[in-house]
Amino acid sequence: MSRRNRMKRLARSQVVFLTALLVFLPGHNLYATEGAPGMHEPERRAADLLARMTLTEKIGQMTQVGQFEGGIPDEAREALKAGRIGSVLNEVNVNVVNEMQRIAVEESRLGIPLMIGRDVIHGFKTVLPIPLGQAATWNPELVRKGARMSALEAASSGINWTFAPMIDVTRDPRWGRIAESLGEDPYLHSVLGAAMVKGFQGDDLAEHGSIAACAKHFAGYGASESGRDYNTTNIPENELRNVYLPPFHAAVDAGVATIMASFSDLNGIPATGNSFLMRQVLREEWGFEGFVVSDWASIEQLKVHGLVANDKEAAFEALGAGVNMEMATSTYANHLEELLEEGRISIQQIDEMVEGILRVKFRMGLFENHYTDPSSYPAVSNPEHLAIARITALQSLVLLENRNKVLPLKKDTLGSIAIIGPLADDGYEQMGTWVFDGDAGVSQTPLSAIREFLGTDVRVNHVRAMETTRSRSVDGFEEARAAAEASDAVIVFLGEEAILSGEAHSRADIDLPGSQAELVRVLHGTGKPVIAVVMAGRPLTLGNVLESVDALLFAWHPGSMAGPAIADILFGVESPSGKLPVTFPRMVGQVPIHYAHKHGGKPATAESFKHMDDIPVRMPQTSSGFVSSHLDAGFTPQYAFGYGLSYTEFSYSEIGLSGNRVALGEPVTVKAVVRNTGDVEADEIVQLYVRDLVGNVTRPVKELKGFQRLRLQPGESQTVEFVIGPDDLAFYGRDMKLINEPGDFHVWIGGSSEAELRAEFTVTSD
Ligand code: NOJ
Repeated sequence: MSRRNRMKRLARSQVVFLTALLVFLPGHNLYATEGAPGMHEPERRAADLLARMTLTEKIGQMTQVGQFEGGIPDEAREALKAGRIGSVLNEVNVNVVNEMQRIAVEESRLGIPLMIGRDVIHGFKTVLPIPLGQAATWNPELVRKGARMSALEAASSGINWTFAPMIDVTRDPRWGRIAESLGEDPYLHSVLGAAMVKGFQGDDLAEHGSIAACAKHFAGYGASESGRDYNTTNIPENELRNVYLPPFHAAVDAGVATIMASFSDLNGIPATGNSFLMRQVLREEWGFEGFVVSDWASIEQLKVHGLVANDKEAAFEALGAGVNMEMATSTYANHLEELLEEGRISIQQIDEMVEGILRVKFRMGLFENHYTDPSSYPAVSNPEHLAIARITALQSLVLLENRNKVLPLKKDTLGSIAIIGPLADDGYEQMGTWVFDGDAGVSQTPLSAIREFLGTDVRVNHVRAMETTRSRSVDGFEEARAAAEASDAVIVFLGEEAILSGEAHSRADIDLPGSQAELVRVLHGTGKPVIAVVMAGRPLTLGNVLESVDALLFAWHPGSMAGPAIADILFGVESPSGKLPVTFPRMVGQVPIHYAHKHGGKPATAESFKHMDDIPVRMPQTSSGFVSSHLDAGFTPQYAFGYGLSYTEFSYSEIGLSGNRVALGEPVTVKAVVRNTGDVEADEIVQLYVRDLVGNVTRPVKELKGFQRLRLQPGESQTVEFVIGPDDLAFYGRDMKLINEPGDFHVWIGGSSEAELRAEFTVTSD
């Protein structure tokens, strides 16, 4: 017998032995493995288990409850034993989790393990930059690693399901939840969202350290009117399909286990009761085989929306629309049985929903591994995890201004430096929103990192100056001025505390809050170089400080390792490489402003008025003023999507195509040469944009279709190549079908959405 065959036989006999052992172990759940040659048959096993369940047990699987206060009360124990709970959220005490799993598996009739959910959005104990900051890295592999690290840390507490990634495209910086999103672009969202799914779930959802992901919020939540959280959305189907849905489709293709229905009202049918979304698109068109969980109480809220009159009708609508599991409220638990008795719903409908949940539990390997042994995981916040948090923070930093190359600062030429501002030394605030479990004790602040970097050679004059970013008092400004005057340069840490963004934390005014602009003016008045580092959960309108700063580094909320990452950039250990995943407006009234807008019939041009000051006293009837622009803000953003400075410069040239004519359905290759023309080694994020000049519905002026992060030495050049396939050029047209059309296309390669190096090609119908 060959060695290979011997190994196979050995493996087979081991499976037989293990299966026998499992069957005879007391209390073991027979249904999980009975007759199954392995654990990779979730469909068959789910169907088998479903056939043995009572109605109460089925509805139990569809019920998710919040964590219990102070251990597991008797009532909850009884509910677990009776199989009336399928999932628990927010329990992070591993002993409590193990005990809950024990009751569910050992003491319930069918022994179905629990899904333990938690919002592990941008880290667990070790905190990564907020997702919007992670998007600024344009680095899918790093984003995947960050999610993997977060999964390992969370899994060590018994969590087996995270409510991430949040992949709501949004073009509204007022919306507090922009912090949790990956920005304004469907393509960037799709690539990075899929990377997060892969990071959380690993190659196999059943492997040690994998947790189930949940793509949310399905769908359109990012279009909340006026950027006010939970507000209505009105999104034409064409835009829904071309802009808001692609990231979810990409997450489904990446194997995401679960999807969360959005709180929001979509075109009059709240997402949680929306069968177009959850039945037609998600299941019929995309073939999604995981399950949908409601958002917190969002089934009950169908009543609050005014879609239905009471909880029973809410349960009816959500079930009909395809919500498998109810989070936090009990409309399913209280009303499904009655609806069934009345013949308004069928047992097949319930079975379909339960089977989806069981399939995922089998895919997760929960029936085999439901207990958590924390010692089998790497320690939280270990050096490797901190290194991932640090490099992610480093690559997320976007240099917006650098006048006279004031940055990087040179340690050797500095005698003293002023570190000013409310966010210079706050280990909690730098972590950002969604840090239920984030350990502020792990955080390294900019002040501590800069002190460590500079050692004793450079004096650091630190003044907080404002109690919070919202303070209106200017009492600390004199001290700040004195510190600046006594220093060679000033670094001022500005922005928003974590609580000013995130869920239910939207703003109508997105200037720097409080008297921060005044503080910057005071510092500028000293004549010293002023470097602003802004930490915030959203793009801000920065117009009232830009004149008073020499450099501006936008840091989002960078997480645990904000300090070392920022110090590395400020002192030139590394060149900045982050690029904006979202447009920065000049004024809030420009919102929504985004690069992939439509051309319109009267587009503004370079000759159009850009500002009030350009406008003549009387508007001539035939002037270039009759175009789409704001009289007081113009039509351009403050900073464009994809923008970000480096300590070097990059040139783009020699754009070339594999052909200027390409047959419909065929790919075209585009190349260009990128050169580092400066004297610093640095990363550049090369971006590819496409425009479809004429479509059966109007098409955006530019759409991102590819990007690559390159590292180039001074003087080095590299040829970058992108393949544009038919999928990249396809779009949903008038009849809501995905189509490819013949016609003319423009393609750009460059360092931002304002790239100018362009080539043209024609897709022919022959
Ligand atoms: C409500 C939020 O909208 C959702 O994103 C989150 O996952 C749930 N609460 C659970 O905390």
